[in-house]
Amino acid sequence: MSVKLKGRDLLSIADLTEEEFWELLEFAKLLKLETLAGKRHEYLKGKTLAMIFQKPSTRTRVAFEVGMYQLGGYPLYLSSNDMQLRRGETIADTARVLSRFVDGIMARVFDHQDVVDLAKYSNVPVINGLSDEEHPSQVLADFLTIWEKFGTLKGLKLTYVGDGNNVAHSLMLAAGLVGMNIAVATPEGYEPKSYYVEKAKTLASKHGSSVEVLRDPLQAVKDADVVYTDVWASMGQESEHEERVKLFIPYQVNPKLMEHAKADAVFMHCLPAHRGEEVVDEVADSSQSAIFDEAENRLHAHKAILAMLLGD
Ligand code: CP
Ligand code: NVA
Repeated sequence: MSVKLKGRDLLSIADLTEEEFWELLEFAKLLKLETLAGKRHEYLKGKTLAMIFQKPSTRTRVAFEVGMYQLGGYPLYLSSNDMQLRRGETIADTARVLSRFVDGIMARVFDHQDVVDLAKYSNVPVINGLSDEEHPSQVLADFLTIWEKFGTLKGLKLTYVGDGNNVAHSLMLAAGLVGMNIAVATPEGYEPKSYYVEKAKTLASKHGSSVEVLRDPLQAVKDADVVYTDVWASMGQESEHEERVKLFIPYQVNPKLMEHAKADAVFMHCLPAHRGEEVVDEVADSSQSAIFDEAENRLHAHKAILAMLLGD
C-alpha cells in the first residue's frame, strides 16, 4: 500500500505524480484480478465513506458504493437535497461535521471550489466524484482500460472529440502525466479551459508527449489509438442542449470519423451516452468499443483509490 497516498485528497489528476498515478493503476489491476479470482479484501474493514451527490449518478455511485462493501467498509449515500446544505449550511461546516463521523468523503458537485473547500475544512480524505472542472476517478478507470487494451500508455495517441469539458480536462492532464499524446477537437468557443491546456502542456513536455487543441475532428483523429467522446451538454447545461446539438453535429463519432483513426483504434465514452448525438450505435456497439469495460473498471479503479487514501 502506498504510504505517500494515505490520507491525501484526490481533487484533480494534477494532485498525482506519474509514479502515484501508476501505483493506483497497478493496484487497481491487482484488485481486479484477485477479486475476479474470488479473493476477498478487507483493506477498509470498519471504515465509512460519506458520498455527497449534488448531481445524479449511476456509475460513480455504484462503483464507490460497491467498492466500499467489497473492501469491508460502509458507504453512505447523501443526496445534497436531503442535507442541511440545501437549507444553507456551509460546505465548511458540513466538512467539519462529517469529518467527526466518517473516514473519507466523496463528492459530486457543480462548482469545483466545493470539493476544494470540503478538502480544506475536513480532516479526512476528499475524493472528487466529478465537478464542473474535472472527473479524475473516471480518467483513472479509463487509463486502466487503455493500459489493458494496449499494454502501455506512453506514446499512444488519444483523440477527444466534442465538448472541452470536465472529462476532457482530466484526460488531458492524465495524458500529459504518463507521456501519452492527446488531441482535442472542439467547436469554436467550446475548447478546454486554457488553465488545463497549459497545465497539460507543461506535464506533457516533461513526459515527452504532445497536447494539441484543434478545430477539425478528422485531422484530430488521424493516427489515433483511442477515440473518446462525451455528451455535448453536461449536467447543469441542459438548457443549452438544443443550441449545442446544432453546433456539435460535425463532431459526432460515427463510422466515417472512426475510419480516419488507426484501424485498431478503440472507442471510449465515460457514459451516460446520448446515442444518436455524440456517438451512434454502430460505433458504441461495435467490436472497437470499450465503453462497458471502461464502466466496469470504475469499480476496480475506485477500490484502489479508496484503499490507498483511506486504508491503514
Ligand atoms: N461516467 C460517470 O461518471 O457516470 P455517472 O454519471 O453515472 O456516475
Ligand atoms: N461531462 C459529463 C460527464 C458525466 C459523467 C457531465 O458532467 O455531465
